[in-house]
Formats: sequence, C-alpha cells, structure tokens
Amino acid sequence: MKRRNFFKLLLAFLGSISFASFAYPLIRFLAPPGLEAKTKKLSLSKGEIPVGSAKNIVFNNTPAIIINRTDKGLVALSKICTHLGCIVEYNRDKNRLLCPCHAGVYDLEGNVLSGPPPRPLQKLPLKVEGETIVIG
Ligand code: FES
Repeated sequence: MKRRNFFKLLLAFLGSISFASFAYPLIRFLAPPGLEAKTKKLSLSKGEIPVGSAKNIVFNNTPAIIINRTDKGLVALSKICTHLGCIVEYNRDKNRLLCPCHAGVYDLEGNVLSGPPPRPLQKLPLKVEGETIVIG
C-alpha cells in the first residue's frame, strides 16, 4: 500500500469515528420516546399513599403523580402540563394541580379549571390488586 493511500484510508477512518461520535447522541436525543425501552408496569404498595396524600412517580420516562383522593379514591396523572410542558404540582390544601409556569389549574381528575392549558392532563391506567397499586 502506498503511503498516500494509507493516509487517505486513515483520514476516512478517523472522519467516520468523528461523525459517529456527533451523530449518535443527536439521534438518541431526537428519537421519539416510544423507541426507548418502556416500563411495562409499575407496582406500589397501597400503604405508601394514604387517603388525602399523593406520591410522585416516573412512568415511561414521564413524571406522574398518584393521588389518593378522599372522596373518589386513587388516580394516576401525568405531571406534564398540556400547555407548554411544565411540571404541575399537587396542592393538597386546594385539592388542585397547579402549573407554576402560566398559572394553569387542574382538578384532581386532570380537567382544566383555568389558565391556558388546552387539554386535560393525561390519565394513566391504574388498577388496585389487593394491597398493590399497578400503573400501566
Ligand atoms: S405550561 Fe402550564 S400553564 Fe403554561
């Protein structure tokens, strides 16, 4: 192999590695979450969430909350505000989920009560099996 060809080959090899080192993180960042490995189900003990309290969880890479409402029982909701995607917080005293970004207000069913959010919060499937809460 001639010296010139060797350097061309070496340059092509190093260029490929450089390209891959930039392209791989970009593709991972842009890939929709559906392509990532999903959590199949999430199980918690009922005792972890007494009546009137709530527990923050992460389900399928999404921040979510399980609320044990005094009148209607358990509900699991995404914490992603449907306006611009801020994280809503549970306000126990007001029985509401409040978005800190633009003052969106949701009830504990996830319905919009006021503010700019265009849709209710996403509800997550929740089952109670004996003393276990199953999300998903
Ligand atoms: S992002 Fe929640 S109200 Fe705007």
